[in-house]
Amino acid sequence: MNRRQWFQFGAAAIGALIGLVLAVPGVAYLLSPLLKRRTDDSDFRTLARLGDLVEGQPRSFSIIEEQRDAWVSYPATPVGTVWLVRQPEGASEPVLALSAECPHLACKIKVSGDGKGFLCPCHASFFELDGSRVNRISPRGMDTLEVEPIDPNDPNAEIRVKFHRFRTGTEEKIPLA
Ligand code: FES
Repeated sequence: MNRRQWFQFGAAAIGALIGLVLAVPGVAYLLSPLLKRRTDDSDFRTLARLGDLVEGQPRSFSIIEEQRDAWVSYPATPVGTVWLVRQPEGASEPVLALSAECPHLACKIKVSGDGKGFLCPCHASFFELDGSRVNRISPRGMDTLEVEPIDPNDPNAEIRVKFHRFRTGTEEKIPLA
């Protein structure tokens, strides 16, 4: 290889190196959404502390999520509501978490007028405070959600709930993907 060829080879190598250095961030940017762990609706999330709840008085909490597809993030929006019900002392679970989405046709369930249960205003489904059905309009009781175990004697214990949505109109509780 003569001197001219060495020079051409060196210039090509340097050009390739510069191209590589410039390409890496671009490729990393394009691939990053695919490599990042996505927050999905199956994660536990903190909704309240045990001391925030009063026995027999359900409180509702919105589930806010940032919607994201591969490359675009959308502003955080409510994707559901959870009712938390503090249970009497000595109950096996100190807090019951119930989805506010009606298993009949997905309307939002509210506390009934007397505060002793839940009501779906769309077709008058009534539920007890434990989510069980009072009438037979809804095909099943309110959907319970998993709550991380907590110390029932610690008012600062965080209540962490795994939010999920379920198919409506079925007797069986079938999680949506
Ligand atoms: S949607 Fe709740 S009773 Fe019909």
